[in-house]
Amino acid sequence: MPQSDTPPFPDSTKRRDLLATGTLALGCAGACALAVPFLNSLKNTAITSLSDNTLEVDLSTLAPGQGMTVQWQDWPVFIQRRTPQMLAALQAPAHIATLRDADSKILQQPKDATNWHRSVRPDYGVLVGICTHLGCVPTFEKPGSAPEAKGGYFCPCHGSHFDAAGRVVQRAPAPYNLPVPPVTFLSDTKIRIGHSAGDPGFSMSDIQQI
Ligand code: FES
Repeated sequence: MPQSDTPPFPDSTKRRDLLATGTLALGCAGACALAVPFLNSLKNTAITSLSDNTLEVDLSTLAPGQGMTVQWQDWPVFIQRRTPQMLAALQAPAHIATLRDADSKILQQPKDATNWHRSVRPDYGVLVGICTHLGCVPTFEKPGSAPEAKGGYFCPCHGSHFDAAGRVVQRAPAPYNLPVPPVTFLSDTKIRIGHSAGDPGFSMSDIQQI
């Protein structure tokens, strides 16, 4: 796992008050435990931490529909290989109408992830797993596990739902979509987290809120 200093944030991204800090501590105690089922394939997956604070992840063992969590810059990062059904669900007009920022107008992602799937490639989603409300760690909602579960994420602290692209639903406590880290595909099944070839000037400190 990468070792890093606390990442730099602009003042606007640090505005979680004391209540938020307490909620984060309590929320993560439960949410992090709940996140465990989403962890898989890690023991079979090569994860290489590089000296420039980037992380290389081999995705070759990830089957369609599977996800895993890695740690980058002290954040949990959700990686999900999406199925055609999940991609279709992301584009359904009735679903899009339920989202707060369907077009990712708020800067929560690099330019090469400012698209309907909020990722470099549609078939792989890579998201920072920190709720934009008060910072809990959302859990994965396996498709079919609940009527509304289509392979997105649910924050158990105050009930925010995000779709598989990390887009938050309207009326959720979370104000913004989940952040997307900079990602570069090194091959068909290997990514580097921490650098965006499509938006090389992007920095996590540019993000509205994490
Ligand atoms: S921390 Fe409140 S909904 Fe996620």
